Amino acid sequence: MTATPNVYDAEPIPEAARAEIDRMLQSGDLFRYTAPENAPVTLLEQEFADLLGSKYALAVSSCSAALFLSLKALGLPRDARVLVPGFTFAAVPSSVVHADCVPVLCEVGENYRIDMADFEARLMDVQAVIVSHMRGHTSDMDRIMALCDARGIPVIEDAAHSLGTTWHGRNIGTIGRVGCFSFQSYKLVNAGEGGIMVSDDADLIARAVIMSGAYEHNWAKHLAASGPEIEAGFARWQNRLPLYNLRLNNLSAAIIRPQLPEVARRVRDGRANHDYVAARLNTSPWLSVPEKLGPEERAPDSIQFNLVGLSDQETRAFAEAAAARGVKVQIFGLSTDNARAFWNWQFLPGETPDLPQTRAMLMRACDARLPARLTQPELDMIVETLLGVADEVMAQNRAYGT
Ligand SMILES: Cc1ncc(COP(=O)(O)O)c(C=O)c1O
Repeated sequence: MTATPNVYDAEPIPEAARAEIDRMLQSGDLFRYTAPENAPVTLLEQEFADLLGSKYALAVSSCSAALFLSLKALGLPRDARVLVPGFTFAAVPSSVVHADCVPVLCEVGENYRIDMADFEARLMDVQAVIVSHMRGHTSDMDRIMALCDARGIPVIEDAAHSLGTTWHGRNIGTIGRVGCFSFQSYKLVNAGEGGIMVSDDADLIARAVIMSGAYEHNWAKHLAASGPEIEAGFARWQNRLPLYNLRLNNLSAAIIRPQLPEVARRVRDGRANHDYVAARLNTSPWLSVPEKLGPEERAPDSIQFNLVGLSDQETRAFAEAAAARGVKVQIFGLSTDNARAFWNWQFLPGETPDLPQTRAMLMRACDARLPARLTQPELDMIVETLLGVADEVMAQNRAYGT
């Protein structure tokens, strides 16, 4: 019998990182602005911009830092209202609060994507939008961009879980004005911590580079930020912006760079694993994996599915029985203090928003890790456990007439 798969360990960091890290340990050259040119962070920015097909990239300490800097670089006034989906990680509305803005939550459907009717209704009264592609589920970017462009509202894409996902063949993170990615562990590229933002907007990136901590003329060391347009931006903003010092260090860049050529393989394997497990889970009357939207090609390293027709008690029994057999499933709305359940974001100003549709989804939506490196027997073990446990919980309850 296949042993319970370890879904928490990341892939080993490619061997190629070692020589570069050894070099840095010898030289002590860890700060991105020490070397006159071609520091690992600078090279990472160039490589990431090329990978995504963006003009500019700025590497920073986390995706949360990238979201915060994006809001600051948009020049939003204090108390500007920023629309955020009601299903995301607590760090996302937190970045809005950090930027002295006010998060406004909108409903998310049972397919984990933004509810477009509610989005449109709430657009009346906001100055910016963060589209969080939570767990890599892409919302309808055609409609979002059409609605926001018509009103002149800038869109920030939170692509923390979307590296490698495409929409009509275009990389997620390159559709809005700016896209933010995470290199925190449990992301497709893992450096423990780290983030990066991409944009084609020279002025926005010039502002973000300075605010990230390019004091004096250190912006001149940004390879992926050269050219007359952005240089005009640096000249315009020199000494006029606060320095938040959210830089990435060279060691992190050395760990990230050799993983970039691995992205295509991780996307391919992660998608194949996900689609295999999804098709098998969908054979159960109690489990439902929502369909992706047509233009989207996903890059999943986890799977989300809804429990259908189960009570709260049955839902808990399902998660407990799966865990007892070695498959850990998180139900976003049922685990205590879950950071993805909006009612736990008590740092938000005002009353807890009323999002009945999002709340109902969170009470039945299951989340299980499914890293790209899993083998076929490991996938089968996960699938059979989940299918078996759902049948058992429901058969037992039917027998007791509950
Ligand atoms: C959807 C989402 N957005 C943003 C973030 C923030 O990423 P970071 O940990 O790099 O700040 C996370 C963190 O996991 C996340 O889940």
